[in-house]
Amino acid sequence: MTMRWRFFGFMMLLAVAVDADDELLGQARDRFRSLPKDMATADAPTTPERVRLGRALFFEPRISADGTTSCSRCHLPTLPAIDGLPRSIGALDFHLPRNAPTVFNAALHSSQHWDGRFPTVEDQARTGVAGKGFGNSGFDAVKARLEAIPGYAPLFREAFPGQVDPINDENFGKAVGAFERTLISRSRFDEYLDGRADALTPAERKGLQKFIEIGCVDCHKGVGVGGEGFRKFGVVADYWTATGSTVHDEGRFGVTNNPGDRFKFKVPGLRNVEATAPYFHDGSVADLPKAVRVMGKVQLGEELSDDDVASISAFLGSLTGAEPAEYQKVPTLPSGGFPTESGRR
Ligand code: HEC
Ligand code: HEC
Repeated sequence: MTMRWRFFGFMMLLAVAVDADDELLGQARDRFRSLPKDMATADAPTTPERVRLGRALFFEPRISADGTTSCSRCHLPTLPAIDGLPRSIGALDFHLPRNAPTVFNAALHSSQHWDGRFPTVEDQARTGVAGKGFGNSGFDAVKARLEAIPGYAPLFREAFPGQVDPINDENFGKAVGAFERTLISRSRFDEYLDGRADALTPAERKGLQKFIEIGCVDCHKGVGVGGEGFRKFGVVADYWTATGSTVHDEGRFGVTNNPGDRFKFKVPGLRNVEATAPYFHDGSVADLPKAVRVMGKVQLGEELSDDDVASISAFLGSLTGAEPAEYQKVPTLPSGGFPTESGRR
């Protein structure tokens, strides 16, 4: 072959490869969306005053019954807003039955918690702080402790101007929710979806292709690569046969009491998943390749090859985003002590 023909052959191969890359990008864009700049809505604005108050409340342990527990106890700033435990531990040594998901990008999900019991991050925060994870049995105790710290009244007034009694559960939820709505964590996959095909390595693109081809994408799709809808965990086999879970959590059934919802869970968003081990609602699986294998087996009835597990895991690694700027700013909280024995509860 002459030099020229060899060059022509090479260009043809290149053209085919470029076509395949374009096609994959097109398929990905049909199924996923890149992250927006902010997760504010008309009803849930991220005003600087609300975000400032919400950040303080998120890191505030004095709202718990024994002064040990803030949201950030289980959604740590030194990990991607998780605690790294299979199942979380809260105030008064209360052991929660489930694994803490990250709050990064969570406001985009169509519901909150593994069983989707809360529609929004605002509802989640308002209800969560009043409950057992904080050792509380209602918001009154939270309100009393916040009122005992003089610095909070002005922060609430600035965040909710014109209100007579702004320290209430509604506003707690709105402020913490506003903070959470700033916690966007963009990854290389977003750059890819925005049109930069080489933002993913060839191995990651191969994994993306597999993820689409074999049907992971039927459940994990959209802007959160999941985060929408409820599906049975264990479509073709009981999940505990693959995870070794000793407790058989019934998921969504616990919320609706509808037999059709038994063992259904919210399809979790897979953004940052490589950094948020251990896996599943009960933290029963320690590493990502094993979690991928379990999914293949119990959701799709497929024994994935080592090669497929590796490339899918590589693709999932491309979903790890930068830590949101707002999450790096750990606040200085208003001064004031935890109530003494006589003033407690
Ligand atoms: C004691 C540990 C603990 C504390 C404290 C805690 N969380 Fe969580 N968080 C969890 C666990 C565990 C879950 C999953 C619960 C479930 O699905 O049943 C969760 C779920 C969430 C979710 C849902 C994410 C998703 O993808 O569904 C959000 C949002 C959240 N927490 C925010 C907060 C906020 C805000 C606070 C403070 C008001 C807080 N958490 C305090 C452990 C904790
Ligand atoms: C039929 C819907 C469905 C399909 C198909 C599916 N998943 Fe899932 N996936 C889920 C549900 C539901 C969960 C939550 C399970 C639980 O309760 O822990 C989940 C959980 C996961 C988790 C753990 C997330 C975490 O934060 O702990 C990973 C990783 C995962 N899926 C990856 C995949 C991969 C890879 C595929 C393809 C091989 C796949 N999924 C196919 C519905 C599905």
